[in-house]
Amino acid sequence: MLTNPSTMQILDGKTLSVTLQREMAEEVDQWLEAGKRAPHLAAILVGNNPASKVYVGHKIKACERVGIQSSLVDAEEDITQEALIEKIQALNADPSIDGFIIQLPLPRHIDPEQVILAVDPDKDVDGFHPANMGKMALGIDTFIPATPYGILLMLERYRITTSGKKAVVVGRSNIVGTPMSILLSRNAPFGNATVTLTHSRTKDLRSQLLQADIIIAAIGRERFITEDMVKEDAIIIDVGINRIVDETRKSGYRLVGDVDFENVSEKCSFITPVPGGVGPLTVAALIKNTLKAYKNKLD
Ligand code: GUN
Repeated sequence: MLTNPSTMQILDGKTLSVTLQREMAEEVDQWLEAGKRAPHLAAILVGNNPASKVYVGHKIKACERVGIQSSLVDAEEDITQEALIEKIQALNADPSIDGFIIQLPLPRHIDPEQVILAVDPDKDVDGFHPANMGKMALGIDTFIPATPYGILLMLERYRITTSGKKAVVVGRSNIVGTPMSILLSRNAPFGNATVTLTHSRTKDLRSQLLQADIIIAAIGRERFITEDMVKEDAIIIDVGINRIVDETRKSGYRLVGDVDFENVSEKCSFITPVPGGVGPLTVAALIKNTLKAYKNKLD
């Protein structure tokens, strides 16, 4: 096995997220000192998905750190689609709310499309509404979905250029893979890459990945990308957050990514760890979008 650990750099999303949150806290402080109200983010959490509870908890804690207001709207697992849409409409109509999210995934009886369509695009800080997705695809200023936005912030702060590089995105979800492939291919900063969007029907994924200067792994399969699939000195962004059994932990599990970190990290130039890579930046990006919604409202 060829190794070059001397040049490999860990992309420390946790530390960068703290820095970004400090910067945003300073901005919020200035608004408060000028006599303005604090920005306000709301999150709707449906049911008892343990991972979703953890993620929403991280988002609310980040609001506290940045000095913005947050509201958690809990809904029972068996809430009807109509009742959930009523909760969304109430947030749309509430002038004290700048932006809100509905934590995904939703219970199976609820159609996520209808839910996303019900959100006022001006308050859609997840950037999932078709109006915002469309703007993003056209390069018009709007909310960028938090995970891809967090990845762009990571590339920016680590001065990783994308122009002219070959990027392979693995996974075509509406939340990560599809928007990420659009952002990397736009004629804009942290775009101008040549992008291949791969998915479950892709033939010979390995040969695609072996050509990649940048890999974005967003499949949701633990340690799926192994070192034999990765080119020497590639840049690896691991979006996966997979729980695996670990009896040595109090919780009984630990988190691993979609990439076999231990082996791939010996071969690549940059890599995000799991946990502590993309996850914390997703939270920072959501708060950035909330500040943007607040500023838009004041303008
Ligand atoms: N579930 C996983 N990622 C996300 C996200 O970015 N936003 C929401 N609302 N739910 C998610």
